[in-house]
Amino acid sequence: MRWYRAHGRDLPWRRTGDPYAVWISEIMLQQTQVATVFSYYHRFLSSFPTLHDLAAAPLDKVLKAWEGLGYYARARNLHRAANEIMTRFEGNFPAHFEEILSLPGIGRSTAGAIATIALGGRYPILDGNVKRVLCRYFCVEEDPKKKEIEEQLWRYSEMLLPRKEADVYTQAIMDLGATICTPSEPRCTLCPVRSKCKGYAKGIQGKLPIRGVGKRIPERDYVAGVVFCGEKVLIRRRPAKGLLGGLWEFPGGRVDLEGNGRGAERKMREAVQGEIPWIVDQWAPWGKIKHVFTHFKMTLHVFSGRIESRPGKRTADQKWVGLDELSEYPFSSAHQKILLKVTRPEEAQQPLFS
Ligand code: ADE
Repeated sequence: MRWYRAHGRDLPWRRTGDPYAVWISEIMLQQTQVATVFSYYHRFLSSFPTLHDLAAAPLDKVLKAWEGLGYYARARNLHRAANEIMTRFEGNFPAHFEEILSLPGIGRSTAGAIATIALGGRYPILDGNVKRVLCRYFCVEEDPKKKEIEEQLWRYSEMLLPRKEADVYTQAIMDLGATICTPSEPRCTLCPVRSKCKGYAKGIQGKLPIRGVGKRIPERDYVAGVVFCGEKVLIRRRPAKGLLGGLWEFPGGRVDLEGNGRGAERKMREAVQGEIPWIVDQWAPWGKIKHVFTHFKMTLHVFSGRIESRPGKRTADQKWVGLDELSEYPFSSAHQKILLKVTRPEEAQQPLFS
């Protein structure tokens, strides 16, 4: 804690006592680095300064503010939780750990962080940074993903919590993990707890935590068809649940291709024409976009086509949108790259499309 007082980071969410703001920061910081979170945090809080504003906002506006941060379930859960707080807790952010834990999108570590940092509680946390610090400090030479090892780490985390100033301690161990006890090449010479670190004593701190045999992440092909009609383009919303749920994109989806992505155009035609009642005769290849998700690598094969008129019906989740309106809709990162080519073709070159 002495080290933290001298070397801790001055972060915007540490300057507020507002549990709502701390909650937003903790959710953004799940799986996302501090440097990336800064601008999102400020923008999000100016768009939704209070819990009431967040609860009252349409989901599309929340997803738009989240656009590019990834893991969109986090944004959907924030929105749901804000509405639950309105009904279950009369609009006041709950003050107790169990209540916080009962909200969508909040697990034990996040509930512990919010209760401790913003509400004067004393609860352990165990996020990725803390796991790494504890594995090294206690020289845990087993895979922390194993259930019994994780339970042991929770006990360590609880054991280290000081009686007083648990909030200071919690942010201190977060910063130690983020700035000193980093994943590769920990900076042990600068570490305030080096003399008690069992991993350091044994000289294996850099090899911890042990990683289990990782599964190779699979590669998957996707297709998208950008359909123009006059000055408008067709977009549609993804189903509310699942990957990128609720975001907008161009029609298409996942396909099975033979090696080398051959047959992408035919599969794209099948997928897109299955969604729309208008026949697109001519398609032009626009290239491929690669994107890595946690569980798979995506190659998105993009084509564009044009129709002259659009009689008949679109479905409730489809929209014809003018090019100047596209920026109002939340899109995934991969489809945003397509957007750039749709709205500013002269700027969208390599390496966006390969
Ligand atoms: N990671 C998760 N929560 C954090 C916080 N409050 N400060 C810095 N990094 C974090």
